[in-house]
Amino acid sequence: MTVVVPFGLSVRDTALEADVQAGLTAVEEGLLEATKSEMPFITEAAQHLVRAGGKRFRPLLVMLAAQFGDPNEPGIVPAAVVVELTHLATLYHDDVMDEADVRRGVPSANTRWGNSLAVLTGDFLFARASQILADLGPEAVRIQAQAFERLVTGQILETAGPRDGRDPVEHYLDVLGGKTGSLVAVSGRFGAMMSGADEQVVDILTQFGERLGVAFQLADDVLDIASDSQESGKTPGTDLREGIPTLPVLRLRELAARRGREEDRELVALLESDLSDDARHAEALARLRVHPALELAREDTVRYAEDARATLAPLPECAAKAALLELCDAVVHRAG
Ligand code: IPE
Ligand code: IPE
Ligand code: MG
Ligand code: MG
Repeated sequence: MTVVVPFGLSVRDTALEADVQAGLTAVEEGLLEATKSEMPFITEAAQHLVRAGGKRFRPLLVMLAAQFGDPNEPGIVPAAVVVELTHLATLYHDDVMDEADVRRGVPSANTRWGNSLAVLTGDFLFARASQILADLGPEAVRIQAQAFERLVTGQILETAGPRDGRDPVEHYLDVLGGKTGSLVAVSGRFGAMMSGADEQVVDILTQFGERLGVAFQLADDVLDIASDSQESGKTPGTDLREGIPTLPVLRLRELAARRGREEDRELVALLESDLSDDARHAEALARLRVHPALELAREDTVRYAEDARATLAPLPECAAKAALLELCDAVVHRAG
């Protein structure tokens, strides 16, 4: 089985590339193994999204972070499997919450089998992740449990919206740190930790993952508006339809308040209307795609990626560091 390094990331060092590829191949095997059940139907449902693809962004980060210690340590691949399984489980649940039809270019689990089975399959994946985690020791279990709490809290806060008086952009950034930053931070942390890297390096890669995760989610939110489903494997405008105000919409609201232009106010009103109507949804999407607010959100994304890059400064110069720096650009400039 060959695995293409996600985003076509050019890892210029051939030894590093071979190492990362070997790690990602082992992760694929681990994912298929971890999603097998004695019940064929459960295997089918649990492997549905594993086989559909996905970027394997989090396992890639585990592998790159593991280069700062001994990349052959036995805990690295299982840790990457745990992180991807956890991510996968959240996708099963997220698609129920977002009523999403398509994921990784295939019908979502909820579309194929209904909400109940999609939720239960997500739970099954969490259970399998926990079993692998147990073998990695109590510290790993605690780290993962804390991150998972943050992730779920992020999803809950997104659903609940900002409390009265809270700045909506600050609320949104908190949500992103929780729902996405937390698990990407664990990816950096586990890679470094399992490889036996110095504690200081572990901390740097944890912080790096947190910031990169937020940049990654900001890019995802821009792509929800800007990309087509061919590229993303998802239905564009899902956030808009769900009425989730992501940064492009929040920046639009700020612009509308500041510039006082009629067309901005109209678009804000359109976005606040019932977008379950297909024609209205298509119009809102088309107008937001060409609105300067989208560019402002892109600039925010670049800023977060720059913050992530800066975190890496104290690390020694090496091929893995160069690849992590490239990863920051890849995250921002990805098409899907
Ligand atoms: C989607 O994650 C959910 C977010 C946190 C943005 P990915 O974009 O990593 O999804 P896959 O794994 O490639 O399908
Ligand atoms: C979901 O964010 C993040 C998690 C699954 C924790 P989104 O709702 O933006 O993810 P997509 O766009 O559906 O992949
Ligand atoms: Mg979603
Ligand atoms: Mg999204």
